[in-house]
Amino acid sequence: MSIQKIFLGNDHAGPKYVQEIKTYLESKGFEVEHLGSFGDESVDYPDFGEKVGRAVVGNEGTKGVVICGTGIGISIAANKVRGIIAANCRDEQMAELSRQHNNANVLGLGARFVSLETAKKILDAFFSTDFEGGRHERRVDKLLKII
Ligand code: RB5
Repeated sequence: MSIQKIFLGNDHAGPKYVQEIKTYLESKGFEVEHLGSFGDESVDYPDFGEKVGRAVVGNEGTKGVVICGTGIGISIAANKVRGIIAANCRDEQMAELSRQHNNANVLGLGARFVSLETAKKILDAFFSTDFEGGRHERRVDKLLKII
C-alpha cells in the first residue's frame, strides 16, 4: 500500500471497532485523522459523514473511512458532499470493485454487520486498488455531475 492520508469518521455504533480500524490503518503506514465521534455517547451519523466528505474533498489525494451501525447512513451522508463517492462494502470484492469501477474515495463499514477480520480485508482491498478508468471514467464523471 502506498502512503496516503485517511480521514476517519463514525457515530456511536462501535467505538472499539473504530479504534481497531484506526490502529490497523496506522500499522499499514497510513496517516489517519480521526474526525470523531470519540465515545459511545449517542450522536448523529450525518454530522460525521459530512465532516469526512468535506475533509476528503478539501484535501486532494486523501480518502475517507466512515463507520456507523450498518455503514448505510454515514455513507449516504458522505455521498451528499459534491466530489464524494462513498461505497458501503461488506466484502473485499465489493471494495475492490468500488475502486476499479466507481473510483470510490470513501469506504463505508457497518460495525454491527462486518466483523473486524473482514473489515481489515476490505480495507486492504480498498486502499490497494486503483481506478481502472476507460469506460468507467465516463460513468464516474456523470456521477460527479449529479447535484
Ligand atoms: C444508530 O443507532 C444507527 O442508526 C446508525 O449507526 C446507522 O446504522 C445508520 O445508518
